[in-house]
Amino acid sequence: MPEDFTSVLKEKRIFKPSKEFSGNAHIKSLQEYKKIYKKSIENPEKFWAEKADQLHWFKKWKKVLGSNKDFFKWFEGGKINVCYNCLDKNIAEGKENKVAIIWEAEDGQTKTYTYSELLQEVSKFSNVLKAHNLKKGDRVCIYLPMIPELAIAMLACARIGLIHSIVFGGFSSESLKDRINDCNAKLIVTSDGGFRNGKIIPLKENIDRALKGCPSVKKVIVVKRCKNKISMKKNRDCWFHDEMSKPKIDDTCKAIEMDSEDPLFILYTSGTTGKPKGVLHTQAGYLLYVYQTFKWIFDIRDDDIYWCTADIGWITGHSYIIYGPLSNGATSLMYEGGLTYPHPDRFWRIVEKYKVTIFYTAPTAIRALMRYGDKWPKARSLKSLRLLGTVGESINPKAWMWYYNIIGNKRCPIVDTWWQTETGGILITPLPGATPIKPGSATLPFPGIVPEVLRENGSKTNVDEGGYLVIKKPWPGMLRAVWHNPKRYEKTYFGKFKNTYLAGDSARKDKDGYFWIMGRIDDVIKVAGHRLGTAEVESHIVSHKAVAEAAVVPIPDKIKGQAIYAFVTLKKGIKATDNLKKDIIMHVADNMGHIAKPSKLQFADDLPKTRSGKIMRRVLKEIAKGTKEYGNIATLADPSVVKILEKRVIK
Ligand code: WTA
Repeated sequence: MPEDFTSVLKEKRIFKPSKEFSGNAHIKSLQEYKKIYKKSIENPEKFWAEKADQLHWFKKWKKVLGSNKDFFKWFEGGKINVCYNCLDKNIAEGKENKVAIIWEAEDGQTKTYTYSELLQEVSKFSNVLKAHNLKKGDRVCIYLPMIPELAIAMLACARIGLIHSIVFGGFSSESLKDRINDCNAKLIVTSDGGFRNGKIIPLKENIDRALKGCPSVKKVIVVKRCKNKISMKKNRDCWFHDEMSKPKIDDTCKAIEMDSEDPLFILYTSGTTGKPKGVLHTQAGYLLYVYQTFKWIFDIRDDDIYWCTADIGWITGHSYIIYGPLSNGATSLMYEGGLTYPHPDRFWRIVEKYKVTIFYTAPTAIRALMRYGDKWPKARSLKSLRLLGTVGESINPKAWMWYYNIIGNKRCPIVDTWWQTETGGILITPLPGATPIKPGSATLPFPGIVPEVLRENGSKTNVDEGGYLVIKKPWPGMLRAVWHNPKRYEKTYFGKFKNTYLAGDSARKDKDGYFWIMGRIDDVIKVAGHRLGTAEVESHIVSHKAVAEAAVVPIPDKIKGQAIYAFVTLKKGIKATDNLKKDIIMHVADNMGHIAKPSKLQFADDLPKTRSGKIMRRVLKEIAKGTKEYGNIATLADPSVVKILEKRVIK
């Protein structure tokens, strides 16, 4: 039966890498890590300059780190191409026949691309994009399932200086519209659908609905994946395969020389207020950061088969399915479909089939699979695995132990990697051959990274005292901007503590300097590892015709970590019924996406507000959780609201 996620299993043991693992690792001991770390902090420019020499540059940079008033610049004066580093460079180094991408479709079909095959497809698609008159700096929105064309489209953009903005296939039409309009995308790459748990996700339909309100989009290129019936709009929509097979489309395309700080991609993510923000990453610094972190954290070797189960629609997929692995010349596996489709052993079958050596997933997936019992992984051969990883939220010790014992057979180190869309790559993590692991802790900073835990007044916290997690020095992979919104960038990330990056998480540091992440301090909810903003979910609830006001808060969930609890006030005269409840939930699914559906919805005549009319979410969180630790509620305009809501809370 389901393991209790909230159970307080304590795990005090420390897990050290085996001698065998350490002996073969890039970084072999804690001492070695400490030495590298010290040097990286004493002279970060020297450290990153040395690392940057591993990349291919058309022209070397003049200055490693510069800064201007509101953001940092890395490797200015340098000319580089990210796609070239991911493909051409590996081919030049003799990897033309090495498999770059293994793709497993939900129905079990397989496709592989060697580095030279991938380069050919990418070059062709770059030429297609050029033929549609796209120029350096134009935005391309990619809305695709986990199919190889997604990798091809993003690398093709990078090759010719187009800025890609990928929208996760789990988002629906209204979320798409907001994201497309915010970056004024000119072209969309999508598909007739995607397979998920045996069903077809109607991606093209979502695009058609979204595009009713997106004047900037001139072209839609559609990949045929499901062979289902869709409508194609004349002069706007065309098929991917038709475009790729036009005689004038050459299969070579020169990678253009990009400035180090030219934009590479925009990825929308949730914040405290309002609409999602377009996190902007640039060329050289991002590439270097994902290159180096991938190399050391996943301890990559030439014969590894690496599998990250994330979707490329999130940052984890950008950095650790595509850019990090490919720039290292690794073999990266992409899986299209559902976690337990058709059976709960799907992941373990894939590990067995391709002899996966490095496996990177989210705690929510581990908890979901653990629930089905040990018999599923035990029936498969997982002996190829040598390293495991987690990302997206803290891992509870019970799930950690299961992952370690049953999946890793007590042999494989687990890297618990802390980072964010904004950080580009992993910042706090074990190095698997070096760092003794404490289950539940992301352990120590990656070289070059200076995290700290601060109090409200900016002073350092004591050992084990919780506070704001910040990063005190710039690093190459950090975001450079919130797209077209410099004020929001400054306020969100540098507004609280001067010259210090505010992560938005709380954390504590233990006596050994290990970091323990305690959760978000803002209105971000992590549902099954997916980062959602309360503001965005609320705006989709309020857009329902019966709703006057809404507030959503996180509640603990055994599998997903967190789930969404919604308090909804209806317009005057509208009756609260179960059908209406269902209708509002479906409205959110249709407009924002299934991932944003509230799992509980409580109708409320009134919400707890301050006298100035601000909803007090902290009170709602307590009501929803049933913990009733309200603290001071004297500032509420009408404290009696709390009791009324408590009585009708949905358990
Ligand atoms: C959370 C995902 C604990 C954290 C890469 C962060 C984690 C947010 C961990 C970013 C971890 C990520 N332990 N919490 N190992 N990794 N988080 O932007 O709250 O989707 O701020 O990036 O996920 O989510 P995002």
